[in-house]
Amino acid sequence: MPHEEQTKLMKQSVGIEAARMVNDGDIVGLGTGSTAIYMIEELGRRIRDEGLKISGIPTSFDSAVLARKHGIPVQTLDDVDHIDIAIDGADEVDPQKQLIKGRGAAHLREKIIDGMAVQFVVVVDESKQVDRLGTKCAVPLEVLPLAVLPVMARLEDMGGSPALRMGVSKDGPVITDQGNMVIDVRFNGIDDPRKMESTLNNIPGILENGLFIDLATTILIGRVTANGEVEVEKRG
Ligand code: A5P
Repeated sequence: MPHEEQTKLMKQSVGIEAARMVNDGDIVGLGTGSTAIYMIEELGRRIRDEGLKISGIPTSFDSAVLARKHGIPVQTLDDVDHIDIAIDGADEVDPQKQLIKGRGAAHLREKIIDGMAVQFVVVVDESKQVDRLGTKCAVPLEVLPLAVLPVMARLEDMGGSPALRMGVSKDGPVITDQGNMVIDVRFNGIDDPRKMESTLNNIPGILENGLFIDLATTILIGRVTANGEVEVEKRG
């Protein structure tokens, strides 16, 4: 089976398995990204075929559109006082269940919504596993536009390599759902992710960073077995 097909199957398997963890009456945080899509699709199917009754709190404009398309009633944080379960993808997952998120620039809303949930289920394919955070991916930061240059200077002083995220099929920087910009800062491995998370958020102008510390309760990892089949490993 071609590699892209295997990756798609791994994402699909974890997305579907996570959607099956949702119970009738749950308020569900709806993650963003190419893996979360499969969870949203499966929730839509369960609503149609099983009469599942839930409401969804989307973590981005994109997941709100997808949720409505699949018939998931959408609410905002103004409408609810808790979230039962949030399901979301990640860019890196370490053995302690700490994460880097934000490839899709949704990490600010994701951290609010995923962080509120009683259960936060992370859905990834095996390529997202790392021994140490920051070895493959940069840490995405949502930054107030007027603070981009001073924030970049502070990150360089810390030994990071920052880059303003640029649009694809658009000239100029990526603008988040909140109207801010994204800086991706590379550290080539982060020794103390907990400390780094608070250090970054203490820099004026940074609204949120993509280090998700002590938030994930369960990780579902899609794997390809020796005989080429896809299986799901559940951690936590
Ligand atoms: C969105 O900003 C991100 O945090 C995504 O949830 C994360 O990048 C995982 O996305 P994929 O499932 O597309 O890899």
